[in-house]
Amino acid sequence: MTGGIVVLTGAGISAESGLKTFRAEDGLWEEHRVEDVATPEGFAANPALVHRFYNARRRAVRAAEPNAAHIALAEFEKNYAGEFLLVTQNIDDLHGRAGSRNMIHMHGGVFRICCAGCGGVFAAEGDVFETDKCGGCGGAGTLRPDIVWFGEMPREMERIYAALARASVFVSVGTSGNVYPAAGFVRQARAAGAECVELNLEPSAGSGFFHRAFYGPATEVVGEFFAKTLAAGK
Ligand code: APR
Repeated sequence: MTGGIVVLTGAGISAESGLKTFRAEDGLWEEHRVEDVATPEGFAANPALVHRFYNARRRAVRAAEPNAAHIALAEFEKNYAGEFLLVTQNIDDLHGRAGSRNMIHMHGGVFRICCAGCGGVFAAEGDVFETDKCGGCGGAGTLRPDIVWFGEMPREMERIYAALARASVFVSVGTSGNVYPAAGFVRQARAAGAECVELNLEPSAGSGFFHRAFYGPATEVVGEFFAKTLAAGK
């Protein structure tokens, strides 16, 4: 049977690559106020602070490497005969660097910047400052990280919901299940008849909605689970 698999990932899959999660005791939301750095209002109030926050994220991601869990997902996708969609909430590029192909960055990406003036989207490998000018329209002060902030609409939701409706298996990896709409995917998938599996360090907020769960570090549980799934020909 190759009925289609949708995988949702969160910050936990990149933790063992050295990137901080959001809600851990030493996580990003302990050090920064969400309202200040991850909302359009925060950006309007203090763009320099927001750019500093994402410049630091960009540097950390550049210094990180994909780990065994990213690689296991990419390998699985290469060998799986059915439809495979990876939806990540992460703004890092570790899935892509591991070789994942059919992928949606539903919360945007840290290596892109967009212009509120002309709508242009540009690559941003290095630091960005509030005084930088847009390469498209020349306007300054309008460049913002191409990140979906709280209060904004995540990317490609129609494509995600369509894949969830067709999937026979839904797997959630390394996410605490606190942020919607991603936290609701398990219910969509379950209602559509998919087997729902959680792979995480600990039970997430929505753990009760999953049929099965394997708890442990992503670098261990992801590879094990997907090797078995491939062998079982799901
Ligand atoms: N292996 C597997 N899971 C892990 C690991 C690990 N090595 N380390 C941590 N985790 C788990 C944690 O137990 C937690 O349940 O990963 C989860 C990370 O949760 P969050 O920090 O809340 O991150 P995430 O769920 O991705 O956040 C969702 O919130 O702030 C916003 O937009 C941001 O995309 C982000 C969204």
